[in-house]
Amino acid sequence: MRVAGPPARDHLLSVADLGREGIDEVMRLADSFKEVSARPIPKVPALRGKTVATLFFEASTRTRLSFETAARRLSADVMSFSASTSSLEKGESLRDTIETIDAMGVDAMVVRHRSSGVPAQVTAWTSAVVLNAGDGQHEHPTQALLDCYTIREALSERGGGEPSSDLSGLRIGIVGDIRFSRVARSNVLAFSLLGAEVTLVAPRTLLPSSLEGWPAQATPELDSVLEELDVVYLLRIQTERAGQVLLPDLDEYHSRFGLTRERAARLKPDALIMHPGPMIRGVEIAPEAAELPASLVTRQVRNGVLVRSAVLFRLLAGPGRPAVPTGEDPVA
Ligand code: NCD
Repeated sequence: MRVAGPPARDHLLSVADLGREGIDEVMRLADSFKEVSARPIPKVPALRGKTVATLFFEASTRTRLSFETAARRLSADVMSFSASTSSLEKGESLRDTIETIDAMGVDAMVVRHRSSGVPAQVTAWTSAVVLNAGDGQHEHPTQALLDCYTIREALSERGGGEPSSDLSGLRIGIVGDIRFSRVARSNVLAFSLLGAEVTLVAPRTLLPSSLEGWPAQATPELDSVLEELDVVYLLRIQTERAGQVLLPDLDEYHSRFGLTRERAARLKPDALIMHPGPMIRGVEIAPEAAELPASLVTRQVRNGVLVRSAVLFRLLAGPGRPAVPTGEDPVA
């Protein structure tokens, strides 16, 4: 008889598992991994002997590679599972697949699945720490963390001061397919926990049926808020979750909600442009707008490795872990 996994606080299923203090701790840990990443050998031995399994039941480029890179930089062993080449194809159940991987002895499972709630369910089938790498339209907590880190970094570079996770006074517009987006759910939570004011911008068909409990306001008019935004965060239409079915026409969407060159020119001079990727140029963003200096898209990807290193370190390095991975322990 399998015993239940560790208590919820030992997993990362939602941004809510961290709260404001937890987010701030991850940001500070990511700062120390930024320092590690600048070394000739960007590696620390913190997770030597631990195994991190990445279990992706849905397509991914950056999230999987980012988690795997982060785990290797901490000297963990990485086990990589892809649904399309697994025994799931032969009819094996999700539970049997998880229990098979668990039996090999893994310390963490990084889970992406098209259905909301799967990472939470997986915690009942393994004693490993479970990290949600995106579940259906529910949450994508490490995306929110890397986005908070990227904004914090950009603001501190601009202001010249110590980085601060306090985003109060900042107005962030999240534009696009809010209804089917897990990134929107995690980011609204994280941005508002850090004090930012969040405005959702979408056609009514791409907003959730109720915004009760969402710490955000909403508008169907991008042009009415564009000039007040400090951050424009664009989302892809989630075609795999019916996003496009609810839109009459992609060209019309682009003209009403896309960050066109003309709209980019009307942004505040120091406004930031963000996108979790994959970007569909010509739909949510014009190709030229994606290349502007204000666009942080590449930085978001780079910071993803730092933030995922921080999260893995925080969950796996154990109670005796140092507050941050020190510089004295590089791995040869
Ligand atoms: C996002 C996802 O998969 O939820 N991508 C990502 O992880 N960087 C957003 C998306 O696919 O639109």
